[in-house]
Amino acid sequence: MSRPPAAAVSESLLAFWAEAGIDAALLETPTDRIAEGQRPLAPRAAQPTPLPAPATSAPARPLALGAAREAAAACADLDALAAAIEAFEGCPIRFEGAASRSVFCRGPADAPVVVIGEAPGAEEDRAGQPFVGKAGRMLDRMLEAIGLADQVFITNTVFWRPPGNRTPTPEEQRVCKPFVEQAIRLVRPRMLLLVGAPATRCMLDQTDGINRLHGRWFEWRTTEADLEVPALPTFHPAFLMRTPSAKSMAWSDLKTFAERLNRPSRG
Ligand code: URA
Repeated sequence: MSRPPAAAVSESLLAFWAEAGIDAALLETPTDRIAEGQRPLAPRAAQPTPLPAPATSAPARPLALGAAREAAAACADLDALAAAIEAFEGCPIRFEGAASRSVFCRGPADAPVVVIGEAPGAEEDRAGQPFVGKAGRMLDRMLEAIGLADQVFITNTVFWRPPGNRTPTPEEQRVCKPFVEQAIRLVRPRMLLLVGAPATRCMLDQTDGINRLHGRWFEWRTTEADLEVPALPTFHPAFLMRTPSAKSMAWSDLKTFAERLNRPSRG
């Protein structure tokens, strides 16, 4: 009969001990920690030479807005845009610990609605797709409830996960914006839904809080003013999960949005 591997034996023994209420490992003889603390300290060993900074730390590079504009403008379709974003090194977040690939978009390329969120989180970073974590599932439920589930192209103001899920800075959003604008040019949606204050601030240059801006229509324009699309800010699903009392306002925003989208166009 073959013997179980040592690890399996140890695991089984530990499980048995845990079940019996043994939750600390003690030695046969007691250790006098007080006497240990009174012994003179050994002289400190020489400090090792500090290691070079890890390759993931942000290089000090100027924000490459010109390069972003040029790269984005050269893209004739969304595949080219995805590749240009993946190759772009001008946004510092990319070097601050996000997985190496960018998180660009999901949804049909000819969707009548573009949804813009803030930034990818941990699950998006792993999956390479926006809004696939908890907040994403809530967003999907909201869109489904209002009848827009298959009609949205979803992206963010930046394409890499900020460390610790911090809010992207206005500079980081600015350098990614040419790619967001080019995505909107290529999809040609009838309307934009901006979820959360950072997306609203970035796309509409508004400084008011989301409590004042949600549910109001704005006319979004590209930086070059070659395209105009009606845009409606609403609450971010992550905020709604923390603040359920705001859900009724978000629902009313979505109704306003869907009503205009479904309104028969005149002429
Ligand atoms: N929150 C966002 O704003 N975007 C995502 O993609 C995920 C969470």
